[in-house]
Amino acid sequence: MKLICANFKMNLLKKDILNYLKTIENVRKKNLVFFPSIPYIEYFKEKNYVVGSQDISYKNFGSLTGDTSIEQLKELGASYTIIGHSERREFYNDSKYVNQKISLALKHDFKIVLCIGENLKEFESSKTLFVLKKEIDEAFSNNLDMINESNLIIAYEPIWAIGTNKIPTSEVLKSTIYQIKNYILENYNLDLKVLYGGSVNLENIEELEKISEIDGYLIGGASLSPEKFLTLINKVN
Ligand code: PGA
Repeated sequence: MKLICANFKMNLLKKDILNYLKTIENVRKKNLVFFPSIPYIEYFKEKNYVVGSQDISYKNFGSLTGDTSIEQLKELGASYTIIGHSERREFYNDSKYVNQKISLALKHDFKIVLCIGENLKEFESSKTLFVLKKEIDEAFSNNLDMINESNLIIAYEPIWAIGTNKIPTSEVLKSTIYQIKNYILENYNLDLKVLYGGSVNLENIEELEKISEIDGYLIGGASLSPEKFLTLINKVN
């Protein structure tokens, strides 16, 4: 069964979350992880969903105004965290902290969804694999003895596909994900799962489902409406 991650980003208010939970009541909980904004993590936990944070602070505690520590997130019920989402890499200089965040998350027994992906310029100049390998190497250095197949999942998200309704062709996606897996296996001796993220929606899910290399999805925009999300996940094997 594939892993489906719903990344709400900075969307939805309390009333929407309560309505969401009501709409998805009785839905299979297995292999479904919700990443709401921090104030709503507890709501998902209370209903026994697996829940995660969209980011963590790179430090455990201290004078970091506006940050939330992993231990605080754990208290709310989070057991997963996304690390290195391209929006955080772009707006908060997160590439600098990915390595430390991974280390902290693993020490606290969190499961990590590590996002990697190239921008349009890099894609068009055939630098995709170069960028992905660099992001993997940066994330894995010093952390290798703690990473295993069950605590770290890669999310391949081409930046140019996020929120744009454009996705790579099936051949490109198949080959890129195959190469990510192969690189990690050959260089780190790890057989990691790789999710696809970037404009996953009702129009393309059937095509994506034909790509056997994809182990699940990280879904942003299409996870915001509970009705649409339910229709979407029903199409995932
Ligand atoms: P999207 O976002 O599905 O809206 O493209 C995916 C993501 O950024 O995780």
